[in-house]
Amino acid sequence: MATQTLSERADAYEEQQMKELGDRLIAKSLLYNLADGVRKHGHDGPDGGPGSASLLMGEDPRLPPMPEKPTLFDFFELRFSPARAHVLQSANLARKNGLPEKMVLACLLHDISVLGFIRSDHGYWGAQLVAPYVDDEVAWAIRVHQALRFFPDESVGYEYPDAYRRMFGEDYRPEPYIYAEYERARKHKWYMSARMIVVNDLYAFDPDVHVELEQFEDVIGRHFKQPPEGLGNDNTPSSHMWRTLRRPCNAL
Ligand SMILES: [Fe+2]
Ligand SMILES: [Fe+2]
Repeated sequence: MATQTLSERADAYEEQQMKELGDRLIAKSLLYNLADGVRKHGHDGPDGGPGSASLLMGEDPRLPPMPEKPTLFDFFELRFSPARAHVLQSANLARKNGLPEKMVLACLLHDISVLGFIRSDHGYWGAQLVAPYVDDEVAWAIRVHQALRFFPDESVGYEYPDAYRRMFGEDYRPEPYIYAEYERARKHKWYMSARMIVVNDLYAFDPDVHVELEQFEDVIGRHFKQPPEGLGNDNTPSSHMWRTLRRPCNAL
């Protein structure tokens, strides 16, 4: 069989998507297009009127279906990126280092926004996502770990990460709000909790150590207040974020 060219593959993919979507169009958020350097929202089809396709509202047939009352586990399995070794390894290290259970949870969730939502300002988004369901200290530590990562603390043997030198360049300096966050955090009673996330924030992990999400079922059960109605259905300040993640292409 002849190998498909890139554009043939793209066409086939588009055709497959159209089949799955029926006659519905995907309305893309501005944010999704900004990621491609394009300032545009909306969709490519004709706008309303007889004969034109309707916009997707509700479940997206291209994504794995979610249960009516989704749990944190469901979001890990059905929406978040499968590339989650980093948070599993970090939580595993935190447990090995004897951190309290709620801090093991903090390490498990610290980059929840990178693997499950929005990368930019991930500490802030991540903290907001989980705040209604975890101890205040856990949410605070998740928010602040983003800033603390850039600042060494000799008292716990933490140095500026080599990974950051590689990722952002030798001469990268954080923005002023990150410095300000760090200054505030240093004086905060929970400073060490956020610092513990950073200390256990593991980039260079052993590829032979396999950690499964199920190993943290007990910790999640005890320290993540899973709403019985399901994440998104529970009317908290972050319910809309979970709903957006469930149905990311709702037109409105
Ligand atoms: Fe992080
Ligand atoms: Fe991390």
